[in-house]
Amino acid sequence: MLDIQMKRALLINLVLLTVLSPLTGHGQQRVLNILYTGSIQGELEPCGCSPKTDFGGLARLSGYISENKKSLSPYLLIDAGNFSGDDTPQGRLKTETLLKAYGVIGYDAVAFGKREKALQDNFPSPVSKENKVRVVADSPHYSRSVLINRNKLNIHISSNPESSEKGKINILLSDLPVSELREIKGWDIIINSSGELMEGPGRTGKTFMTAGYPKGKKLGILTLYFDRSGKITDFSHRWQPLGSNIKEDAAVRGVLNDYDSRVAMLLKEDIKPLTEVKYLGAERCAECHQPFVESWKKTKHASAISSLEHAGKSFDPECVICHTVGFGEGGFYSMEATPGLANVQCEVCHGPGREHLADFEKPLNAITESVCLKCHTRDTSPDFSYKNYLEKVKH
Ligand code: HEC
Ligand code: HEC
Ligand code: HEC
Ligand code: HEC
Repeated sequence: MLDIQMKRALLINLVLLTVLSPLTGHGQQRVLNILYTGSIQGELEPCGCSPKTDFGGLARLSGYISENKKSLSPYLLIDAGNFSGDDTPQGRLKTETLLKAYGVIGYDAVAFGKREKALQDNFPSPVSKENKVRVVADSPHYSRSVLINRNKLNIHISSNPESSEKGKINILLSDLPVSELREIKGWDIIINSSGELMEGPGRTGKTFMTAGYPKGKKLGILTLYFDRSGKITDFSHRWQPLGSNIKEDAAVRGVLNDYDSRVAMLLKEDIKPLTEVKYLGAERCAECHQPFVESWKKTKHASAISSLEHAGKSFDPECVICHTVGFGEGGFYSMEATPGLANVQCEVCHGPGREHLADFEKPLNAITESVCLKCHTRDTSPDFSYKNYLEKVKH
């Protein structure tokens, strides 16, 4: 009896050993996790149009790190650059929001790449001080390198390919093309932010090269293993997807909500409603085409604005463009000014109706797949198929 129990215990031990050995293979070695982003391109959070593409966002990024602080520590959090939005009023607001969020999340270093060019000229150093973000940039306002001590390791982070330093862990943040970066020597790690898709992070000679996941849909986690003298002995890498299962960080959510209200004000100041409205709205069509209106009301198109309202985004031009009729071209302007043109209505497919009223004989827009593809893109509607989708909205 005892014998069997002992044998069983031995067996369990053996099994445990073989299962655990890959994990304990690095024994008591010192480790450091480099958590990194790059090429976020103004993506504060995904639109949520489809569960399949619903990845990324700063509130999730921060939530993931705080929930896993213990297992990730010691770590360094870095952005390799090209986080900014476009050079438009809304794009600049995104950039400001990103920097503010980076401060809240506690980034250790943030590089300025090509997209940040305007930032370097328009927002001198106070922006970064105010946000407590250490900037690495080729600009007179900032320094090109920072030194950080973490877990008794001296880490040198720079945007200057010529400046690697002996006796330190050297990390280069750059948006030079990957082909050029492959030629650069003297760095332990190169993190690229050109937006190029790399085949996969990996080692070239002594250097580990990787690139920020475009639009921040995943967080890069690079683990470095060290020997007693502090030399890197090994690397391992994984991508952490930032899906909707991750709990958002409340403080960063606050920063994003603040952005939403500023976007709403921007819309009021910046885009004036057109005096002549080209679109009539479904209520007018209903006067003569009642059955079509009834069947349309049963589709999701008829409630597209409420999806935005739930997300607090019904003022955001980047969302209303696809969830209303004719935004920016003489159609929807705001819920107050043009409530009758909210939602995806008849004229989105059939074309503006004003001329139709003058002459019923004049043919309206022919409806083809390309009409749908303006809104049903790979990102917003990855499951789109003309045949299947048409079936659901036919009347
Ligand atoms: C390029 C056009 C486009 C833009 C821009 C867009 N959407 Fe969408 N959205 C769609 C389409 C198309 C769908 C339906 C996708 C499907 O079911 O295949 C959708 C669906 C959604 C849904 C899901 C509704 C449901 O039934 O579950 C939400 C929420 C949403 N969008 C929010 C947003 C927000 C917030 C923004 C702005 C940040 C935005 N959308 C910008 C086209 C767009
Ligand atoms: C005052 C009545 C009236 C209103 C309002 C009206 N229509 Fe029409 N519509 C007609 C008539 C009449 C025809 C022609 C019917 C026929 O030839 O059989 C027509 C035909 C059509 C057709 C089919 C012909 C084609 O060219 O494809 C479509 C689609 C259509 N209307 C869409 C709309 C939409 C969308 C609206 C709202 C923006 C609208 N109509 C508003 C009266 C109206
Ligand atoms: C102006 C933008 C726009 C155009 C054009 C457009 N759609 Fe949509 N569509 C949307 C949005 C936004 C939603 C999501 C509505 C929501 O639930 O918030 C949607 C949802 C749908 C859905 C519901 C998907 C589901 O999950 O059940 C179908 C089906 C659909 N569209 C088919 C079409 C077809 C077919 C065309 C072309 C003939 C088309 N749409 C053209 C914006 C558009
Ligand atoms: C998602 C795109 C879409 C939306 C939104 C839409 N329709 Fe249509 N409608 C179609 C398609 C596709 C047809 C099929 C005829 C065709 O191929 O042109 C059609 C056909 C029609 C016809 C009949 C044309 C005929 O030849 O008999 C009328 C009338 C019409 N729609 C009116 C409306 C009205 C009114 C609304 C709004 C309440 C509306 N549609 C919303 C796509 C749409």
